[in-house]
Amino acid sequence: MDLQNKAKKSVAMPGIRGPSEYSQEPSRDPSLKVNAKEPFNAEPPRSALVSTYVTPVHLFYKRNHGPIPIVDHIQSYSVAFTGLIDNPRNLSIKDIRSLPKYNVTATLQCAGNRRTAMSNVRNVRGVGWDVSAIGNAVWGGAKLADVLELLGIPKLTASTVLGGRHVEFVSVDRCKEENGGPYKASIPLSQATNPDADVLLAYEMNGEILNRDHGFPLRVVVPGVIGARSVKWLDSINVLAEECQGFFMQKDYKMFPPSVNWDNIDWSTRRPQMDFPVQSAICSLEDVQMVKPGKVSIKGYAVSGGGRGIERVDISMDGGKSWVEASRTQKPGKHYISDHNSSDKWAWVLFEATIDVSQNTEVIAKAVDSAANVQPENVESVWNLRGVLNTSWHRVLLRLGHSNL
Ligand code: MTE
Repeated sequence: MDLQNKAKKSVAMPGIRGPSEYSQEPSRDPSLKVNAKEPFNAEPPRSALVSTYVTPVHLFYKRNHGPIPIVDHIQSYSVAFTGLIDNPRNLSIKDIRSLPKYNVTATLQCAGNRRTAMSNVRNVRGVGWDVSAIGNAVWGGAKLADVLELLGIPKLTASTVLGGRHVEFVSVDRCKEENGGPYKASIPLSQATNPDADVLLAYEMNGEILNRDHGFPLRVVVPGVIGARSVKWLDSINVLAEECQGFFMQKDYKMFPPSVNWDNIDWSTRRPQMDFPVQSAICSLEDVQMVKPGKVSIKGYAVSGGGRGIERVDISMDGGKSWVEASRTQKPGKHYISDHNSSDKWAWVLFEATIDVSQNTEVIAKAVDSAANVQPENVESVWNLRGVLNTSWHRVLLRLGHSNL
């Protein structure tokens, strides 16, 4: 079907639409901590993250910039492929499903994860998140590299004959930041056409059909990259000469130095953030946790961007003077080796250590990735006005008292 036909069809029977208000939101798990209602943004309790390697769908964080789109008619749903390609065309869900299916275990993390701790230092703008704007899922779908090949763009292409170098993903949701227009983002064509980058057009999450909150019927999953680029509810995919000019690429999700404020900010001076840096958080304990004297188990997650594994997680009880190493696992019963082909390269590791507590103590976790990148010691050194990428050492305070821990 050509684009003109798709336009005609959309008028008669739109497959998917983005409502302008919130009366038809899906139901959500009551245990989620709601950080904003309209649009809905919520995260699970910390402890839920470390009870399973693969995060259950109902406990997976939800980050939305507008009301959740509605699929009226899945049979008429299709994604338009346009831009600097020889043969623009539409693909239905059936077309996408007919390509080889891949299951990729990948951790999705919002760039705003741990923003609340950053705003405690100095005020930042953005939805407040604790440490759970992150989750690990098995995403099922077609590789974008295969889809683009079907459209005539060979694997490992950095530029199309017509000069396309970026792949833009456009949704149907209505976002106030885009003046009521859709959410959009892009990645380089070289990444999109690289089968090893494992970029998916996903229709499944943890073996189930993707639900509305997470992008039904089709979303992009860009492993190792901040969640903002994994666009949900796809409407079109466009091959462009320049990166996407949308709000969330150009005026958000960029990391500025601590000296930049709302009076002197020049958005054009920074690149859109792509890979996320090395990160870890303790999830078995709250920020101030009452414990009994004796052994306390410390559990959490560690993850790095760009497919880099986690080489080490260190735990300190004396402000960073001395450290003990935590154990790391991914799949239960299997030894984890970072960057080894037996490991899930896009997924977090869960870590665990046991410490002896005899007085009020601050416990610190810091992770090191396989490129020896280390989390920064202080949040002050990475503070930025939008509160993104708080990857500073994670600290929790233990107080002696009555507790079950
Ligand atoms: N895609 C659309 N269409 N609209 C959105 O608001 N939010 C992005 C990304 N994709 C968003 C989107 C952000 S900022 C993140 S962190 C992830 O989706 C969150 O995905 P999740 O809600 O499935 O966890």
